[in-house]
Amino acid sequence: MHALVAQTLQVRALRNLSAVDLEPGPRFNVISGDNGHGKTSLLEALYLVATTRSFRTSKLGELAPTGAPGATTSVRARIDDGISVHEQSVGLLGARRSVKFDGVRPAKLAQYASATPVVVFSPSELGLSMGPGSERRKLLDRVALYSGLGALEASESFSRASRERQRALETRGISARDLPQWEALIVQHGLGLMHARAASAERLAAAATAAFEGIAAPGLSAAFVYAPSAPTGAEAYLRALESMRTRDLARGSASVGPHRDDLAVTLGQIAARHVASQGQHRAIVLSLKIAEIDVVSRARQARPILLLDDVSSELDRSRTSALFALLGEQEGQVFLTTTRPELLDADWRGHASSATRRDFVIEGGVIRAR
Ligand SMILES: Nc1ncnc2c1ncn2[C@@H]1O[C@H](COP(=O)(O)OP(=O)(O)OP(=O)(O)O)[C@@H](O)[C@H]1O
Ligand SMILES: [Mg+2]
Repeated sequence: MHALVAQTLQVRALRNLSAVDLEPGPRFNVISGDNGHGKTSLLEALYLVATTRSFRTSKLGELAPTGAPGATTSVRARIDDGISVHEQSVGLLGARRSVKFDGVRPAKLAQYASATPVVVFSPSELGLSMGPGSERRKLLDRVALYSGLGALEASESFSRASRERQRALETRGISARDLPQWEALIVQHGLGLMHARAASAERLAAAATAAFEGIAAPGLSAAFVYAPSAPTGAEAYLRALESMRTRDLARGSASVGPHRDDLAVTLGQIAARHVASQGQHRAIVLSLKIAEIDVVSRARQARPILLLDDVSSELDRSRTSALFALLGEQEGQVFLTTTRPELLDADWRGHASSATRRDFVIEGGVIRAR
């Protein structure tokens, strides 16, 4: 299996990074620096150029540097996908986002966004186990995107139709003549999205359950099951929308639909939310991440680029070691940030030779080799 490798990275005007030019190594890249110097921002830049999004915020405007109003944020990377080398770039100016693949604007965003799979592991990911369904929906959608299940197109069309229905309800009431048209589109694209999510949940569940067994206490098992919010049959879904127009008008959004889906996580038949301990939550998150890496690798026959933000601060020793053991086994490019690079050294011994590790230090948004 080959691996995706960022050979160069060029960042301009992204948060506190005014100009960063980096030549990462093909395996482990350790980026160390004190709090607030730009470690997460660097990973965010990589994520942006690979996916056109941020893993920290849905508002890309936040990436504009506060100290340089009007500056154009841009990230450019040369990526070797194991077969060929190409250049990806994303520019942000105000609300405008321009993306180019080998210098050309892609016909579809999904084409660009799925070309270079990345998997992020950041402290905020603990929400995958403890937080609301939105984090787990995003996981399902990422896996669906990288697996070519058509989730992004379905999701965009679904959202558009949902907005139109809501606008019709709000401006013209529950008998508006165009409502059936929007509801039919919602059902069509909503079911498309639900099919994609069900398929990605199935792939993730098998891998995550196995991973959990390897990390958690013996005898404890976790299950992961897709929990759609809408009826899975077209007729029933359509009827549900029709019958809930009054309620949906009052609440400002549809009461049922994939925007409220979840991936149910249970520990010994009980919702993990209610019973899991802190350590078990962490084991669940780690299992889901290992599953994400596994499923994306297999779907693409290539190792995704891994971005690990401040991981050792979030996992305890044994789980950090389990993660490093896995990373040592897999060929692939890894970027990891830490305030304490010396803590990683212990995990390194035995797993990954120092020849495969490249160290950088970031200070006040400026990066140099260590
Ligand atoms: N839009 C912005 N413009 C300029 N600076 C910003 C912007 N957003 C955040 N910053 C600042 O950029 C700096 C780097 O932030 P970042 O989150 O990358 O730090 P970090 O090295 O990951 O820190 P930590 O170890 O605490 O996680 C911080 O000082 C932060 O306040
Ligand atoms: Mg950080």
